[in-house]
Amino acid sequence: AAAPLIDRFARRISYLRMSVTDRCDLRCAYCMPERMEFLPRAEVLTLEELHRLALAFIARGVTKLRLTGGEPLVRRDMIELVRALGRELGNGLEELTLTTNGTRLTEFAGDLGAAGVKRINVSLDTRDRATFARLARRDALPQVLDGIAAAKAAGLKVKLNTVALKGANEEELPDLIAWAHGEGHDITLIEVMPLGEIEQDRFDQYLPLDAVRQQLAQRWTLVASDARSGGPARYVDIAETGGRLGFITPLTGNFCEGCNRVRVTATGQLFMCLGGEGRVDLRAALRSDDPDAALAQAFARAMGEKPERHAFAIDHEGAAPALARHMSMTGG
Ligand code: GTP
Ligand code: 5AD
Ligand code: SF4
Repeated sequence: AAAPLIDRFARRISYLRMSVTDRCDLRCAYCMPERMEFLPRAEVLTLEELHRLALAFIARGVTKLRLTGGEPLVRRDMIELVRALGRELGNGLEELTLTTNGTRLTEFAGDLGAAGVKRINVSLDTRDRATFARLARRDALPQVLDGIAAAKAAGLKVKLNTVALKGANEEELPDLIAWAHGEGHDITLIEVMPLGEIEQDRFDQYLPLDAVRQQLAQRWTLVASDARSGGPARYVDIAETGGRLGFITPLTGNFCEGCNRVRVTATGQLFMCLGGEGRVDLRAALRSDDPDAALAQAFARAMGEKPERHAFAIDHEGAAPALARHMSMTGG
C-alpha cells in the first residue's frame, strides 16, 4: 500500500482541497481584480487526470475531498467528475463536498446530491442586492439565493461562508447570521487574507474577528462548541437562534497546529500551505513515464516541505500582499 501522508510535524493529511478550475463567473473584489487573467485551458488537468490524482490521495489516507475553484461549477465536466469520485465513497473516501459561489446551484444541486454529496459550502457575503453587486461586481444575488434554496430542497446540508469586510458587510453580519440560522444553515465568518494583488488596500477591508465576536456576544449568548467540521473553523452555538456559527481566523487566531490538509491547483500544483510558496508539480509526475513512482516521490518531498504555519499579516496600510497568488488559484 502507498505510504500515508504525514509531515515533519506529525500532522496527518486526511483532507484534500482540489481546485478544478481557476475561472469564476463572479469577481469578488477581495478575491481578484476585475481584469483577472485566467490560465489557458490547455494548462488545466483533464477529467481523467483529476480523477487519477484524487485516487492517489485516497490511497494515501485522504478521507475528505473538497472540490473548489475559482468556481467549480463553471467547469463543463464537473458533474461527471463528481459522479466518478462519488463512487469512491465508502472505499476510503468518507466525504465528498464542494465550495461554490452558488450561482449554478439551481441547475446542479440535484445532480450533486445524486452523486453522493451531502454537504456543501456556499459563499454569501451579503443579502443586499446592491452590496452584492458592488462586492462581487456582478448582479447575481437573486441567482445565488435561488441556488441556496435549491440545495436545501435537494436535501443538501448548506454551510454559508461570509468574509467579514470592514465598511462593506460589517453592519449586516448579525442579520445575515440570524437569517442563515432561520433557514437552518450553519454560517462561518472568515478573515480576509492577503492573497494576490487587488485594486484595494487589504488594510481597508480587514475586519479582525475577535472584535466581531465581542460585538455578537453583546447581542446573543455564544456557547463555545467542540464541534469540528474537519476544516479550520472553530464554532459556537447561539442559544437564541439555535444555530451554529464558525470563525476562521488566520490572522487573529492561528490554527496551523492542527492542519490536516493540502491543496492542488487546477494545473496539478500541490501547495502544502495556503499561505506559502512551496509547491510540488504533480502534473509532471502524472505525465511522466512512470507516474506511480513519480507520484510517490512527489508526495514524499511534499511532506518533507510542508511548513509549520502560514505567515499572514495585515498590519499596516500599503502592506504588500503576503503572496502573489490569488485565492482562486488554490480555492482556499
Ligand atoms: P468545512 O469542511 O466546512 O470545515 O470547510 P472548510 O472551512 O475547510 O472549507 P471552505 O472551502 O468552506 O473554506 C472556508 C475558508 O477557510 C476559505 O476562505 C479558506 O481559504 C479557508 N481555509 C481553509 N483551509 C485553510 C488553511 O489551511 N489556512 C488558511 N489560512 N485558510 C484556510
Ligand atoms: N481572503 C479570505 N477569504 C477569501 N475568499 C476568497 N478570497 C479570499 C481572501 N483573500 C473566500 C471566498 C470563499 C472561500 C473559498 O474563500 O469568499 O468563501
Ligand atoms: Fe469567484 Fe469565489 Fe473569488 Fe468570488 S471568492 S471571485 S466567487 S473564486
